[in-house]
Amino acid sequence: MNHEPVLLKEVLEYLIPSRNDGTVVDATIGLGGHAEALLERHPDLRLIGIDRDLQALERSRQRLSRFSDRVTLVQGRHESLIDILKQSGTESISGLLADLGVSSMQLDDASRGFSFRFDAPLDMRMGAEEKTAADLVNTLDEYELTRVLRDYGEEPMARRIARAILEARREAPIETTTRLAEIIRSVKRARFGDIDPATLAFQALRIATNEELIGLDQFIDDAVSVLEQHARIAVISFHSLEDRIVKRAFRRLKGECTCPPGMPVCGCGAKAIVEVLTNRPVTASEEEVQRNPRSRSAKLRVAEKL
Ligand SMILES: C[S@@+](CC[C@H](N)C(=O)[O-])C[C@H]1O[C@@H](n2cnc3c(N)ncnc32)[C@H](O)[C@@H]1O
Repeated sequence: MNHEPVLLKEVLEYLIPSRNDGTVVDATIGLGGHAEALLERHPDLRLIGIDRDLQALERSRQRLSRFSDRVTLVQGRHESLIDILKQSGTESISGLLADLGVSSMQLDDASRGFSFRFDAPLDMRMGAEEKTAADLVNTLDEYELTRVLRDYGEEPMARRIARAILEARREAPIETTTRLAEIIRSVKRARFGDIDPATLAFQALRIATNEELIGLDQFIDDAVSVLEQHARIAVISFHSLEDRIVKRAFRRLKGECTCPPGMPVCGCGAKAIVEVLTNRPVTASEEEVQRNPRSRSAKLRVAEKL
C-alpha cells in the first residue's frame, strides 16, 4: 500500500522548480509519494532522492520505476547533501524538499520497534545508526535520560520516568517496546481522552536514537547554498522542536539579525539570502486531516533563494 504524502497539493504549489529541466532533491524520499507527483507534473525534471532507510529506498525505487531514467536514489543522511551532490556531479539544484521525521511505513512496521502499539525489540533505527533505542535506555545515566525525555519529548514527567527506567533495568535490561511502555505507564497514568502516556517518551527516544535534530540547521544552510537563483526549499516538520529550528534558520537566512537582545552592535553578520514565502507555516486542511490524521501536526515552510 502507498501511504498518502502529507500536504501534497501545497508542496506542488510552492515547490516550483527554477528550471524545467533542472534537478530537484527530495532529501527524505521515503515511499516516494511527493517525488512521484513532482516527476509527473514536470516531465523534464530530474530528481535525486535521499533516504537513510534502505527499505524506504527500495519502496520508492519500485514506485518510481517508470521514471527511472530521471531518478537517482542514494542511501545516506541528508546532512551529507553536499557530498552526495558532488558524487553525482551536480553543482546546483532547482529545488529541494525535506519531509522530516519518521515515515508511516516505519511506524507501521511492528518489527522496527518505533511504536508501543506492537510488542517488538526496542530498535527505532531509521538507518545504519550504531545504537538502538534499547542501547540508550539501558546505558544513559539518570541525568542524560531525563534530558533526552525533556528536550526531545517535552515530557513533563521526564525525571520520574528516567528514575523508573533506571530502577527497572537493574532487574533486567529493557529490550522491548512493551516493557518500556509498561514502565512509563507505571509512573504516568493514562487519563481518559488523553494520548497514551508513553507517546512523548517514545518520540524523544526516536529523535535521540536517530539524532534527528542534530545537523538540521546546517543542512538547511547547505541546501540553500546549492539552490539556483529563484529555486525554492520546502521543509515539512512534525513537531515543535523541528519547526523551531526551521523557522529560525529561515529567519537568519532572510537577513534577520539573530544577535542576543541588548547587543550594542550586530555581530551575526545577517545577510538576506532567501525570501521566506510562508510567514506562517502552511498546515493541512480539515479535509486532509480527516483523511490522513498524521497530517494534523505537519507544518510546511518554504523559502526562495534571492
Ligand atoms: C516522512 S518520511 C518521507 C515521506 C515521503 N515524502 C513520501 O512522500 O513518501 C521521512 C523519511 O525521511 C527519512 N529520514 C529521516 N531522517 C533522515 C536523514 N537525516 N537523512 C535521510 N533520510 C532521513 C526517513 O527514513 C523516512 O523515510
